[in-house]
Amino acid sequence: MSRNVEELVGLIRDRAGGDPPELGLVLGSGLGHLVDEINGPSIDYSDLPGFPHAGVSGHNPKLVIGILEGIRVAALGGRVHYYESGRADTMRLPLEALKALGVNRLLLTNAAGSLRPDIPPGDLMLVSDHIDFSGRNPLIGEPSDARFVPLTEAYDQGMRADLLSAADEEGIGLKQGVYAWFSGPSFETPAEIRAVRTLGADAVGMSTVPEAILSRFLGLKVAAVSVITNMAAGLSDEAISHEHTKAMAPLGAAKLERVLRRYLSRG
Ligand code: HPA
Repeated sequence: MSRNVEELVGLIRDRAGGDPPELGLVLGSGLGHLVDEINGPSIDYSDLPGFPHAGVSGHNPKLVIGILEGIRVAALGGRVHYYESGRADTMRLPLEALKALGVNRLLLTNAAGSLRPDIPPGDLMLVSDHIDFSGRNPLIGEPSDARFVPLTEAYDQGMRADLLSAADEEGIGLKQGVYAWFSGPSFETPAEIRAVRTLGADAVGMSTVPEAILSRFLGLKVAAVSVITNMAAGLSDEAISHEHTKAMAPLGAAKLERVLRRYLSRG
């Protein structure tokens, strides 16, 4: 464990207690308020040395560790994105800290644009696989052979099956699809959306893929759920904006919370 991670873990344990959290949760745009549902101490990112500053509105930049539906959870109320710094490994330290605290499975969430008419705004999409359309990788510069991470089954089959069952039990339709990562921060062009649709993408967004790669590198099981806030560029008459993303996210966030609670209550 690096000194930075050791220091962080000591500080977090002092504030949140030594019981290891089992599940990690990363909350995306417009979803950060879910951390306030967790019964436990919270630590602002600004009090966590080395934690990157999450500067995007609609995020809730704090770590909360506590019990949700009987499971000890460590939740990050906001993430930093590649486009904020140009560093694809910007979430490495927070994820290393979660791992060192004891987390063994991680649920990533994001807001995304849909390419599928049968997954409209307000719906959730379970990520089955991804396309790294940004061409960036958070493991560039990692010197160890561990950098050659297999991603054949990046998104954990068991977690996905449990999330699908949880959604089913809640009566919430949850379709699986492929998430394509664009660097952002500008939104995509209609031509880019046509291109990735041809390549097999079902949703597009500006996050999650680097964290999924880092999670597999760290040996964490990972799953990801997209909250669909809009149809992707050129697929509807609705204008695309960050304001719109934030305004639409609560629709899907309410469903996400129900699926998450049901998933956790299953153990
Ligand atoms: N593209 C990229 N990121 C997004 C979108 C989108 O259409 N909607 C929400 N996040």
